[in-house]
Amino acid sequence: MICLAYLSSSTLPIDAATLSDILAKSQRNNTANNVTGLLCHHDGSFLQFLEGGAEDVEATFQRICADPRHRGLIEVYRQPVTERAFGAWSMGVARLDKMDEAERAFCTSLRTVELSATAAHRDALEPFLQTFRAWLR
Ligand SMILES: Cc1cc2nc3c(=O)[nH]c(=O)nc-3n(C[C@H](O)[C@H](O)[C@H](O)COP(=O)(O)O)c2cc1C
Repeated sequence: MICLAYLSSSTLPIDAATLSDILAKSQRNNTANNVTGLLCHHDGSFLQFLEGGAEDVEATFQRICADPRHRGLIEVYRQPVTERAFGAWSMGVARLDKMDEAERAFCTSLRTVELSATAAHRDALEPFLQTFRAWLR
């Protein structure tokens, strides 16, 4: 299995109806493909984690990349994993307006993370992933 995360910017204001359409499709497709994850949306930015079989995650990610509702996708994390961090969610959603300040600060800080496809960058991302896991348990 792999876990992949990316950041992107929404191309239009994402209202509740658009978000629920994205989630409904995600939950249907991801259940069928045994993909789980978390989608976080805040202030025009998306952060999404996808995990599952490498081919399933890749195929899902390719569809997501082609979606005109967002742009500027940056893959920030891709690691082999032996267990799922988000196993209970075909696609969970993190509503930043429902989070406390520390959690919100954590999510917004992700936008300023220095990004590069190096091992050092993956190491830097690992604590963020741990934090997500800890809240979602
Ligand atoms: C931010 C964002 C996250 C998405 N996440 C998923 C996802 O986890 N799984 C998925 O199948 N589609 C996801 N989508 C939707 C896909 O881009 C695409 O519209 C959908 O997979 C097409 O499904 P369909 O061919 O069954 O209509 C996402 C779209 C956006 C904009």
